[in-house]
Amino acid sequence: MSSAPASASPHPDVKKVLFDEDALRARVRELGACITRDYAGRRLMVVGVLKGSLIFMADLLRAIGPEVDVHVDFVAVSSYAGSASTGTIRVLLDLRENPEGRDVLVVEDIVDTGLTLSSLTETLRARRPASLEVCTLLDKVSCRKTPFQPKYKGFEIPDEFVVGFGLDYDERYRQLPYVAILRTP
Ligand code: PRP
Repeated sequence: MSSAPASASPHPDVKKVLFDEDALRARVRELGACITRDYAGRRLMVVGVLKGSLIFMADLLRAIGPEVDVHVDFVAVSSYAGSASTGTIRVLLDLRENPEGRDVLVVEDIVDTGLTLSSLTETLRARRPASLEVCTLLDKVSCRKTPFQPKYKGFEIPDEFVVGFGLDYDERYRQLPYVAILRTP
């Protein structure tokens, strides 16, 4: 069986790799250490936002130390048509556990306009968690349409269309083990 690594050469649709596996691993480890320090001795409800967060979430969870009592949950949200202007989201899959009184950390792959996260955090805050923070792998700070500041972020990126490590274009490329700029589709 061939043992060539999946990342030996980038996907032909990729224009440029922004963060390779080593860079992602190192940064996720740092974020995990930071979260471990901040929540040591506490119970933390880590909420992945499907689907884009799935790879980051899996790696981040393994980077959080045993000092934190981690519980895992997921939400799936979808923007209403025209949401780019309204910022309203629809919850497709809700939490299994009640967030009331809990320390909640929402995990996202990317914050772009900020509309999804500001709407989602508003929805969650109405359910009275003890604390609510957001950890995103990528942050397109220049694209905000609403003020939103995640507490934890992996990397700030320019206004480019990125795929890989969970991020898709038309549901493709999520499995790429790096974050890359796509050639103009
Ligand atoms: C992406 C991402 C965020 C949102 C960020 O989700 O995972 O949820 O867009 O964009 P915003 O800051 O402009 O609101 P997407 O709708 O692509 O779904 P996916 O996670 O299933 O890929």
